[in-house]
Amino acid sequence: ANERTLSIIKPDAVAGNNIGAIYDRFEKSGLKIVAAKMMQLDDEKAGGFYAEHAERPFYNDLVSFMMSGPVLVSVLEGENAIAKHRDIMGATNPKDAAEGTIRADFASSIDENAVHGSDSAESAAREISYFFSEDEVCARTR
Ligand code: CMP
Repeated sequence: ANERTLSIIKPDAVAGNNIGAIYDRFEKSGLKIVAAKMMQLDDEKAGGFYAEHAERPFYNDLVSFMMSGPVLVSVLEGENAIAKHRDIMGATNPKDAAEGTIRADFASSIDENAVHGSDSAESAAREISYFFSEDEVCARTR
């Protein structure tokens, strides 16, 4: 099915000048960028995004890391976009990420793992609307 998913290029990958290399992988995989913005997250915006992890031991470090520099938030669209995006990102922990995946090539640790992607249709809908209004997402007809 045609789907949309939320992508975040995290502060480590932005600082490493890897935005273009990561966008290249999205586009080469057939995913279309239908919305994008660079943002400096604050405590409230980063904390709210990861609210489901609030009780996890890594939550405070995760929120601090996500505020440590700008992020590039995008909506990607395409056939099976949610699973496709997860496949090309690779495992959460770069140590476990398959060769040729974004995290294998650009992430340094489970905490600084270069990218985030929605893990289900429900989280994609929630995460896209967390960052974008409907009119900020552009229809792609070609
Ligand atoms: P992300 O897909 O953005 O979702 C939550 C983030 O928490 C995850 O990527 C990791 O960067 C970070 N994290 C740190 N420790 C863990 C852990 N033990 N399990 C899952 N995620 C973790």
